[in-house]
Amino acid sequence: MAAASIKDVARLAGVSVGTVSNVLNRPDRVSAATVDRVRAAIDELGFVRNDAARQLRVGRSSTVGLIVLDVRNPFFTDLARGAEDRAAAAGLSVLLGNSDDDPAREAAYLDLFEEQRVHGVLISPIGDVTERLERLRERGTPAVLVDRSGDGSGFSAVSVDDVAGGFLAVKHLIEQGRTRIAFLGGPLEIRQVADRLEGARRAVAESPGISLEVITAAGLTVIDGRRAGDEIAARPASSRPDAIFTVNDLIAVGVLQALVMSGRLRVPDDIALVGYDDIDFASATIVPLTSVRQPSHLIGATALELLLDATAEPPTEPRDVVFQPELVVRASSRPGAP
Ligand code: RIB
Repeated sequence: MAAASIKDVARLAGVSVGTVSNVLNRPDRVSAATVDRVRAAIDELGFVRNDAARQLRVGRSSTVGLIVLDVRNPFFTDLARGAEDRAAAAGLSVLLGNSDDDPAREAAYLDLFEEQRVHGVLISPIGDVTERLERLRERGTPAVLVDRSGDGSGFSAVSVDDVAGGFLAVKHLIEQGRTRIAFLGGPLEIRQVADRLEGARRAVAESPGISLEVITAAGLTVIDGRRAGDEIAARPASSRPDAIFTVNDLIAVGVLQALVMSGRLRVPDDIALVGYDDIDFASATIVPLTSVRQPSHLIGATALELLLDATAEPPTEPRDVVFQPELVVRASSRPGAP
């Protein structure tokens, strides 16, 4: 039978992993009743703290491993910069890994960072990596979820409310008088894509007479946007959307290239366009892009801050930080807007 883990103790005692950690490291911070409950669970399960891993962590390197989905996306480079700036202030540095939406690459970076005995790992996961991160933590390497909500995983997390972001984007298009809206996103297995679509659906559900067409691109790049834009531009006018909400700004840039640079259609007159992330280039595109802004630099800095909390002695309880998105209106959805 596998040795009981800190998670098993937390489950049996009905408390969080962070509370068990506080009982072990700083019982003065926990009520007597909770201390008794946790200690009873420890005794019942025969849990033994992995002090070797904790001691190893104390002597860990001063680097932090950061794994992002696509380093070519300015959202992630801004996020990495935020983590790096906060790390530097704490005397740490950041090693960047790019999973490229490939689970095998993601797993290889997790193994590499564990072998390197990094101070901790920040990860924008492709799917559910909770089990892998639990093994990492039990062996002394804490982790923080980035651009993903914690969802009761027991790990600190920082994200933006993407359902609210999708709602903001489509509500704005409806308020501009658009009635045939297309959602252009990547694989719905990507949680950010699915949440933004959910928000779009909620906005449409509130407004009778509005249609929502879901177009799933192969990926989330400019090329994917250009391919989808070419397909839309080739349609008869009667079957084209009069507005497109793209799941990120890179796809929106590709759509703009296909529609406007080819001289085939006008934005926003023929088709209004809203992107997501508000990357630096959004305001400088051929038609300045309306976008749902994510505080990417702040997300990165906050993720690092949460990791410092997790590597403190004693570690603090996991926190789920959720920022609210902001709609930045420009000419691609509202004529005359800056
Ligand atoms: O990686 C896909 C998208 O999710 C990025 O463009 C950014 O919006 C992230 O939240």
